[in-house]
Amino acid sequence: MAPMTTSSSFENGMITTDERIYYRRRSNGVGAVLTACAHVREDGKFASSPNVSADKYIKSLSKLAQSIQSTGSKAILQIFHVGRMGTASTLRGVQPVSASAIPPLRENAEVPRALPEEEVYELVEAFGEATRRAIEAGFDGVELHGANTYLIQQFFSPHSNRRDDFWGGSLEKRMNFPIEVVKVAQAAIEEHAKKPFIFGYRLSPEELEEPGITIEDTIALMNRLKIFNLDYFHISLGDIFTSSIRDSKNTTPILEILQKEVGKDIPLIGVGQVATPDDAVKAMNDFGIPLIAIGRQLIVDPDWVEKVEDGEEETILTEIKASNREALKIPDAMWEYVRSRPNWLPIVD
Ligand SMILES: Cc1cc2nc3c(=O)[nH]c(=O)nc-3n(C[C@H](O)[C@H](O)[C@H](O)COP(=O)(O)O)c2cc1C
Repeated sequence: MAPMTTSSSFENGMITTDERIYYRRRSNGVGAVLTACAHVREDGKFASSPNVSADKYIKSLSKLAQSIQSTGSKAILQIFHVGRMGTASTLRGVQPVSASAIPPLRENAEVPRALPEEEVYELVEAFGEATRRAIEAGFDGVELHGANTYLIQQFFSPHSNRRDDFWGGSLEKRMNFPIEVVKVAQAAIEEHAKKPFIFGYRLSPEELEEPGITIEDTIALMNRLKIFNLDYFHISLGDIFTSSIRDSKNTTPILEILQKEVGKDIPLIGVGQVATPDDAVKAMNDFGIPLIAIGRQLIVDPDWVEKVEDGEEETILTEIKASNREALKIPDAMWEYVRSRPNWLPIVD
């Protein structure tokens, strides 16, 4: 199951019963559940995202892990910092931070505070501490959220990172934040995990911004990161079959390129609008990728995997009836959130 923010933790980031019920309902049959992104520092949050920024949250997180594992699925905590995609409103008056004081390209975007060098080291450490807490909470793994325009990606992006110190100035230096984060997380796993612990990295292979991350940049980053004992790369795409959004002349699907360049060395997870088993099989056959994540379709039908396993594909639900929401265990806040986004979910009243 792909990571999906439910906006349903308490204001302080403790896990709610609603959230646990939502996850338990969806853990049937899937090999692993990637959780909603949990923030590693207070100024890195979404409104009501799970909190992994202090030891006092470990007990609450362990209940989330248990809810997922109670059905036999692996529980993988996605950890992140929102960076310049945060707002002073969500952060209760605190200015968002980023690599540089460059606002994102969106309406009413706030100018972030550029992190001073010593604070960048603190943030790197925060990812290590979050990894330790995930282990102590009983998760089976962590996924570093280096995708979808958040802080790890902001350090790699030539749009948001205009630094000229150790953390920026060239493609090589823009890799330093992702590399250091991977290293501290790996060190935390080596020091604290008592059993095999899954370690993944999610990335967005391209950015539309100019300057922005290109596929070539991404291949270079993946080739640097793969030596640090990562178990997988998770390629965040809106459509699993898509080709470049920056270069319309390059019609080769992005996953085909990445599988050829890096996938031979480390497993890739593909994601994006996989709705039917045929979609999943086609992506695996076309690209040779071993793993598929499914997001929205598991909100629509939490029994998707079991139905496929039982040969009952024709009974897979393809839309959500508002009257069926209680049975689907979608928390109120998540319901409001997904309804407010046109075309996110096929909801019929
Ligand atoms: C409601 C919602 C919340 C999401 N939250 C996250 C998140 O916390 N972390 C993340 O990496 N991706 C997040 N995503 C992106 C999904 O993981 C996935 O990449 C995307 O929905 C495409 O897959 P799908 O078509 O199977 O839904 C979210 C998507 C949705 C619809």
